[in-house]
Amino acid sequence: MSQFWSDVTARLKPYVPGEQPVEGSFLKLNTNENPYPPSPDVNSAVSDFSISNLSLYPDPDSRMLVDALSERFNLSTEYIFVGNGSDEVLAHTFVGLLRQERPLRFPDISYGFYSVWAELFDIDTKLIPLRQDFSINVHDYLDADSPIIIANPNAPTSLALGLSDIERLASGNPDSVVVIDEAYIDYGGESAVPLVEKYENILVVQTFSKSRALAGTRVGYALGHPVLIQALRRVKDSFNSYPVDSFSQATAVASLSDEDYFRKCCDRICSSRESLIEGLINLGFDVLPSKTNFVFASHPDISGAELYSDLYKRKILVRYWDVPRLQGHVRITVGSENQCEQLLSELGKIVS
Ligand SMILES: Cc1ncc(COP(=O)(O)O)c(C=O)c1O
Repeated sequence: MSQFWSDVTARLKPYVPGEQPVEGSFLKLNTNENPYPPSPDVNSAVSDFSISNLSLYPDPDSRMLVDALSERFNLSTEYIFVGNGSDEVLAHTFVGLLRQERPLRFPDISYGFYSVWAELFDIDTKLIPLRQDFSINVHDYLDADSPIIIANPNAPTSLALGLSDIERLASGNPDSVVVIDEAYIDYGGESAVPLVEKYENILVVQTFSKSRALAGTRVGYALGHPVLIQALRRVKDSFNSYPVDSFSQATAVASLSDEDYFRKCCDRICSSRESLIEGLINLGFDVLPSKTNFVFASHPDISGAELYSDLYKRKILVRYWDVPRLQGHVRITVGSENQCEQLLSELGKIVS
């Protein structure tokens, strides 16, 4: 702590992202990145990108990308907001929509950034415990009308709520915004996008980082009623006018033009996930049924901390949280078929 820090800075407990090692040949299964490259169309967009673009500021409204998303989701452009990764879109959402008199509710086990933003933006929160089996009980969110944020599927549990449950959240909290963070929706969950024209209070947030293999270019977006989108634009224009750079915009637009490649990669990862779950169960692990590109697993004889460090010694990175209820578990990203085999082979040695 320094005398120069503001009180709020001194109080912060910043989010700690998964390691991005700069040295050593690690098998990275800790940050849910895509094991496959982006679409070949992205490759062409990168080759065709003119360096002279870089001397100009990008379009502050990212119209090229908003138009491509409008076509992809069949929504008019007033329903769309884009930002520098879904983290930034979510942060703007916290300031613009979730900072209310009534407390913001979210599951006690979920994406770690939610509590960090709540602290940063001085938002009152109410954590709602997950059930013993790590599922979300929608009834727990129907006893008061106050803002909600839910990752669906949830992280790190990998469990998903169905669309009818999301609809109950929206209709049961008509005077509050319900944010559905769909970072992992493309791996088998039911998206709430079809509800955004029906319910003014649903905001869906998605990302290009996972299923579209563009974590490095940092592009995310929100879909919701124009009144909600206007709030995000007001916050953005009070913070950074040009959040999506021209290069990132070109890669995201190119990715959207190749749905075939996108679907094939998602299907391939879903199929590897099922084989990985089977392999883990054969080694004695308990694994939650996943609708994501990661699995949440525990072993009756080995703690999460031991699994993490034994794998680390074998140059495999997975994610572990030293917090109550998660200490038995690790979260493992579904890699390519070869990567999953390598992981299972190393885990086989650890378990025996
Ligand atoms: C649930 C969830 N939401 C949002 C994000 C942020 O993704 P990005 O900022 O890369 O779009 C992540 C990243 O891991 C996540 O797990």
